Amino acid sequence: MKLTIAVLPGDGIGPEVTAEAIKCLRAIGELYDHSFQFEEALVGAVAIDATGDPLPADTLDLCERADAVLFGAIGDPKYDNDPSAKVRPEQGLLRLRKSLGLFTNIRPVKAFDTLIDKSPLKKNIIKGTDFVIYRELTGGIYFGKKTKSEDGLFASDLCTYSQEEIERIAHLAFKAAMNRRKKLTLVDKANVLETSRLWRTLVAKIGESYPEVALDFLFVDNAAMQLIINPRQFDVVLTENMFGDILSDEGSVIGGSIGMLASASVGDKNALFEPIHGSYPQAKGKSIANPMASILSAAMLLDHFGSKDEGNLLREGVDRCLKYGGVTPDLNPETRYGTSDIGDLIEEFIQNYDGDLYINQKNIDMGGSTII
Ligand code: IPM
Ligand code: MG
Repeated sequence: MKLTIAVLPGDGIGPEVTAEAIKCLRAIGELYDHSFQFEEALVGAVAIDATGDPLPADTLDLCERADAVLFGAIGDPKYDNDPSAKVRPEQGLLRLRKSLGLFTNIRPVKAFDTLIDKSPLKKNIIKGTDFVIYRELTGGIYFGKKTKSEDGLFASDLCTYSQEEIERIAHLAFKAAMNRRKKLTLVDKANVLETSRLWRTLVAKIGESYPEVALDFLFVDNAAMQLIINPRQFDVVLTENMFGDILSDEGSVIGGSIGMLASASVGDKNALFEPIHGSYPQAKGKSIANPMASILSAAMLLDHFGSKDEGNLLREGVDRCLKYGGVTPDLNPETRYGTSDIGDLIEEFIQNYDGDLYINQKNIDMGGSTII
């Protein structure tokens, strides 16, 4: 396989974690004889500093012609603390999602056995959790008309959804459920919002074409609670843009660290892969950022292009790394591993892979690995 991958490292820890994902993709490319060509471009606060625009035209062009986009992180405190800023880094990501038509954001949430004690939640509650959030990404309150009165004392953000916007992601979510445990939960606020009632009506109708999938509905406030008290009940969670944003950060608590949650954003033509975490500016340049979410996003990239074995091997590399204590300080404040060590460990696992995970396991146990 031959892929051109647009790399948008962005702000804060974005460049550091993305470098590790690229390292792992190169190793996979070597092993499976794939050719990955990486082309880098600016986005976010660094792009504003360089060009005045968080999504320069060159960057968008590159993303449009690339097969996939590998995205780092976006955001800078100098904008967070300035509500009057005219240009904001986040606009770069939002415009990119909209311009590339990335209407479905897929965020898997899993309790890794090795990290089960890292979550503040009780082990017996989270053990075995494995669900995926299908978050609508180019509609809703994020993209509705925004207004502010002249005196600055009134503001509004409009939440809108059309039939088409709901149906296209709903079909993808039902299809995902068919390949999983055949359960789909629509999260909405249909007791209050008109848009939510439209989601409910349309999703219930589409559900009739997927009779094997058990469909249920939850109000978002209840869903926020259920996610914490009984996360194993979920298989595919389908929801609108902002609810999905909030619930996926909440879901990351189950995985032990927000540094573990990967995502894929897909549309009809393009696809983008990014960790769900932000730019973590306090950690920039300190080699303490967890690159696993970025590496797991690269695994989703491989899956997306039908390279399931490659994606699974990368995930296995992450599992192995965790099992042998290869974690960054978010997961163990005492760790001796930094951001690039984690990439090295996983890269080494891939390079030494000989087609038999068990034999490789023996190597590691016997100290055959130079790093672990
Ligand atoms: C995310 C982020 C973005 C969002 C921000 C950076 C605009 O929080 O991808 O979840 O709100 O969608
Ligand atoms: Mg978010």
